[in-house]
Amino acid sequence: MKNPILVTGGTGRLGRALVPQLLSAGHPVRVLSRRPATAPDTQGFRGDLLTGEGLDEAVAGASVIVHCATGNGRSDIKATRNLLHAALRGGRPHLLYVSIVGVDRVGLSYYRAKLACERLVADSGLPWTVQRTTQFHELIVWMCTSQRWLPAIVMPGGVSFQPVDTGEVAVRLAALAGAPPAGRAPDMGGPEVRRAADLARAYLRSRGARRPVLPVPMPGVAMRAYRAGEHLAPEHADGRITFDQFLAA
Ligand SMILES: NC(=O)c1ccc[n+]([C@@H]2O[C@H](COP(=O)([O-])OP(=O)(O)OC[C@H]3O[C@@H](n4cnc5c(N)ncnc54)[C@H](OP(=O)(O)O)[C@@H]3O)[C@@H](O)[C@H]2O)c1
Repeated sequence: MKNPILVTGGTGRLGRALVPQLLSAGHPVRVLSRRPATAPDTQGFRGDLLTGEGLDEAVAGASVIVHCATGNGRSDIKATRNLLHAALRGGRPHLLYVSIVGVDRVGLSYYRAKLACERLVADSGLPWTVQRTTQFHELIVWMCTSQRWLPAIVMPGGVSFQPVDTGEVAVRLAALAGAPPAGRAPDMGGPEVRRAADLARAYLRSRGARRPVLPVPMPGVAMRAYRAGEHLAPEHADGRITFDQFLAA
């Protein structure tokens, strides 16, 4: 019997795709959540990364932790620190952290927090792996749906994205979770780099909707880094599922 793998954020977008991959590889899977467990065939652990509640129980006996949880902000640093402390008190498992391509090059506060988490993981004394990926297809869809009440969709001018499928990221993570710690793993990106406005038009077409898409130049250092493609990984276009295929599915 393999040792259990704990997935933080196992109820989130990526975590929900990862759990079945780990189960089909034969791993017992634990899911940490602030809510009661629902995922079939897994062991649910109620816990909160920010308060530390439930972490010691969730970590005890786990051989690997895949840390997917995020509060989408600076709270991720505290959450990651609490998780690392619990892991160090427990059996010193392999810590696999999911991060974002360009966290060291794009000056967004969320990216700075992710970079700080990467450094905490690398300096923790635990065996570790960090996997950075480009944006998920769902994020591009969210950028469009969050503007559904506006007469047009505004996208950042001069910016491209390389969206990747969460299912394919999950396959990559499951392989890393079953392998020895790799340190900083090669980045993973989606199959195509496309202008943000072009992606929004593809989204509208797929929904049979007709609205203008406005590429608008946006100010600031983070946007300059986006325009320079610092969040892209064209040399690691490993994903196969395109944005159009994702939309069609
Ligand atoms: N979205 C993207 O385009 C993208 C791109 C590259 C990398 N990533 C990274 O991929 C990872 C997963 O992203 P996602 O989009 O799948 O996230 P998500 O759907 O927003 O899910 C967030 C998860 O975090 C958990 N969580 C949040 N605060 C928590 C807390 N205090 N204690 C315990 N659990 C907590 C939530 O669990 P409960 O609500 O059940 O407690 C939920 O399962 C993140 O690290 C993100 O930075 C995302």
